[in-house]
Amino acid sequence: MADINIRIEQITKTYYGTDTPVHALRGISLVLDKPEMVAIMGQSGSGKSTLMNILGCLDKPDGGVYTFAGLNVMQMNREQLAYLRNRRIGFVFQNFNLLARTTALENVCLPLSYAGVRGAAAEKRAREMLEMVGLAGREHHRSTQMSGGQQQRVAIARALVNDPDLLLADEPTGALDSKTSIEIMTLLQQLNREQSLSIIIVTHDPEIARYCGRTIRLRDGLIIDEE
Ligand SMILES: Nc1ncnc2c1ncn2[C@@H]1O[C@H](COP(=O)(O)OP(=O)(O)OP(=O)(O)O)[C@@H](O)[C@H]1O
Ligand SMILES: [Mg+2]
Repeated sequence: MADINIRIEQITKTYYGTDTPVHALRGISLVLDKPEMVAIMGQSGSGKSTLMNILGCLDKPDGGVYTFAGLNVMQMNREQLAYLRNRRIGFVFQNFNLLARTTALENVCLPLSYAGVRGAAAEKRAREMLEMVGLAGREHHRSTQMSGGQQQRVAIARALVNDPDLLLADEPTGALDSKTSIEIMTLLQQLNREQSLSIIIVTHDPEIARYCGRTIRLRDGLIIDEE
């Protein structure tokens, strides 16, 4: 993971399909020049998840510029977008989104199999990832047999197993108590520093945002403040 440049300029997104169009993003610009940790805050409905979905290539903006490591995301076809999503971007969500009856090891192996890595090589890599997030010895625990913090660690290991450049986390500590939240944020900070990983985190909690080098505040689809 070399230094990476992620740049969006004047991104706009409007949702139709309801009575009145919703202008969810009205011109958002953001540049990550080096691996950093950025918090995105703002009231409910301010456009945070919409922005994350666009950064994660899960959704397309209506207008603006998006370049990822020099590549023009706006001009990519479905295949190229899928590659970016699967190999260079990792996702973590509030509710962990692990497969229910599946073990930690199986969950972490899944993105490897999509990338064509299977068998002993996949298992070795997945075990290393679980060790990195502090879950050595829990490889065969199922999701239902783990605490919320442990499940989020599995989700982080899974998100990072293909060695992405960017980790997107939408309320990663939203379902965790404060002590566990601090442990998860400390882990993300360590990954940011040691793995040169860029991390963008949506949070409602100023205490969580403090772990990030930068905080961006959205209101009604615009950046109103950056500190
Ligand atoms: N699929 C959709 N169709 C129509 N409107 C949508 C859709 N998704 C989001 N919106 C609207 O776009 C605006 C921004 O939504 P978004 O989910 O990005 O907010 P958010 O900041 O993530 O909020 P929260 O903190 O509640 O998660 C809101 O007004 C929302 O109602
Ligand atoms: Mg949201």
